[in-house]
Amino acid sequence: MTPDFDYMAAKAALEWQIELGVDECIGEVPINRYDVKPPKLKLGPTSNLAPISTMPSVPIQESAAGIAAIMAGKCTNLSALRDAMAVFDQCALKKGAKNLVFADGNPNARVMVIGEAPGRDEDAQGVPFVGAAGQLLDKMFAAIGMTRTGQTPQDALYITNVMPWRPPQNRDPELAEIQMMLPFLKRHIALINPDLIVPMGNAACQAVLGRKGITRLRGNWTSAFECPVMPMYHPAALLRDGSKKAGAWADLLSIQARLKE
Ligand code: URA
Repeated sequence: MTPDFDYMAAKAALEWQIELGVDECIGEVPINRYDVKPPKLKLGPTSNLAPISTMPSVPIQESAAGIAAIMAGKCTNLSALRDAMAVFDQCALKKGAKNLVFADGNPNARVMVIGEAPGRDEDAQGVPFVGAAGQLLDKMFAAIGMTRTGQTPQDALYITNVMPWRPPQNRDPELAEIQMMLPFLKRHIALINPDLIVPMGNAACQAVLGRKGITRLRGNWTSAFECPVMPMYHPAALLRDGSKKAGAWADLLSIQARLKE
């Protein structure tokens, strides 16, 4: 390698291409694969290999979600899950983020709130929902007697996000990113084992329910992971459009009533 294209320069060039979305290497000259003759396998007379056609196909490389599932499946507690997410390198969002934003609140809470992804404040502090939307979220749940500092399961909240890393310019997480991180979220839900899940906004509904459409979904009880689910507007949407607040208040009252059943 020439001195003007050393290891660091090559690494930076590669990272830049990954940022641009390059996900495979191809040659400069196209190859017509129909014209390429497969090399003859030289098997000795004593070979006991099965014919290729009968061999089970083994994926050359596990998918990112597959790797996440294997890693998440090994986590038996929250700190192991946090550590596993911190070393998971398949998601490009990690490269642009300052911090992993894992969760906040009381792990014994009956209610688990799931947001979308960290914003600038959350990325800076490593804590979910600490910016303007988070302050509204705190006020909303305080109005029905629940806070992230609550000491009992009844008066506590547990808060996390679909994505633990801030997307650039606060863009919406992509479906592929949501699906990639879903095994970690599922494990997170299993470890918390909440009585109710509250996905806030479309990204959280996509992750928890497999569909978007918060305007239709909110206010209607459904279930996922064998747990009752009440989809709600994201607090950022309430900050943008105050007319949605009446619906959000109705949803909070519905959550309160359900917890008393
Ligand atoms: N919005 C979210 O969805 N999550 C946060 O943590 C902050 C803002």
